[in-house]
Amino acid sequence: MSSFFPEDACSLVKKHLSLNLHTALEHLKTDSGYTLAKAIHSGIKNPDSSIGIYAGDAQSYQTFSKIFDPIISDYHGFKKGQKHASDITELDLAVIDPQKKYIKSTRIRVARNLKGFCFPAHILLPHRRELEKKIKNALSQLKGDLSGNYFPFESLDEKQFQQLKTEPLCFEKGDRFQDAAGINSDFPKCRGVFHSFDKQFVVWVNEEDHLRIISLEKTSDISSVFNRLCRALLALNRHLDFAQDKRYGYLTSCPTNIGTGMRAGVHIHLEKLEQKKELLYDIAKGFHLQIRGTFGEKTKVENAVFDISNCQRLGISESKIVKNLHAGLLAIIAAEKSL
Ligand code: ARG
Repeated sequence: MSSFFPEDACSLVKKHLSLNLHTALEHLKTDSGYTLAKAIHSGIKNPDSSIGIYAGDAQSYQTFSKIFDPIISDYHGFKKGQKHASDITELDLAVIDPQKKYIKSTRIRVARNLKGFCFPAHILLPHRRELEKKIKNALSQLKGDLSGNYFPFESLDEKQFQQLKTEPLCFEKGDRFQDAAGINSDFPKCRGVFHSFDKQFVVWVNEEDHLRIISLEKTSDISSVFNRLCRALLALNRHLDFAQDKRYGYLTSCPTNIGTGMRAGVHIHLEKLEQKKELLYDIAKGFHLQIRGTFGEKTKVENAVFDISNCQRLGISESKIVKNLHAGLLAIIAAEKSL
């Protein structure tokens, strides 16, 4: 697709969208009017995209399946005939690092979108408003340690914003990849964050997906973090109907997040392994873990603090992801200790 994508681009969308396929798909539209041109706009504008495509609604995955399917199987290693299955049963795994010598914090998030609404790249302001209201209502019914307050960005002053940012419970306007996809339209309208009174449960409203549901702790107690998330998902599911696909599980804006929509990870301080990065990357790879910079996606590692999390999200259950992370972290800490 050299005529559409910049020459230096090496995204999956460029790799899989042949000229013939483009011709076959360019006149199609989902019921809400989402087109191929909109879906690949971010990948065209940002030559350094690794994926370069966003879904504008749940139907995008069917209407444009001829381009989404190969990207999904390439990225997730998802085979023909394979089916995704969810499992959010609570776990009881040993705390990895009770002295907090290595692991500073644990965070697990899932991405969710509501059935019947366009995804953030393609939603109109009145619908985004309706969504916010619906989500706010569901959040207000959470009980016990999950209960808390919703902070709409539109009504926060600078001081409140800074407060949320230092925690870090907040999100900011999306990056240039999301911007080109249309995800930032009308920002900061209808965006906000909810957090429980103890700040261990957080929900982002109308970021890259309708909901980013997050459980976090300044401990290495992965089970505790996961179990809180499981309880929250059950509670929210009573009021919210999430967009799902029989084969692909939960549907998200970016095809990298479909399936579980889950990223489970820790911030871990690894002084010795920082000097032996190949070893660290090797162990991580063996457990299907990815290493990001200290402040997440597309950032650098600072002061030997690594962000280590699962790379598999589709074709694997939520509880299996957490068990893999647990086993991988035990191996990484053992290697750090041995050096
Ligand atoms: N669209 C961007 C790219 O192709 C981001 C991909 C994954 N990240 C995400 N936040 N969805 O590089």
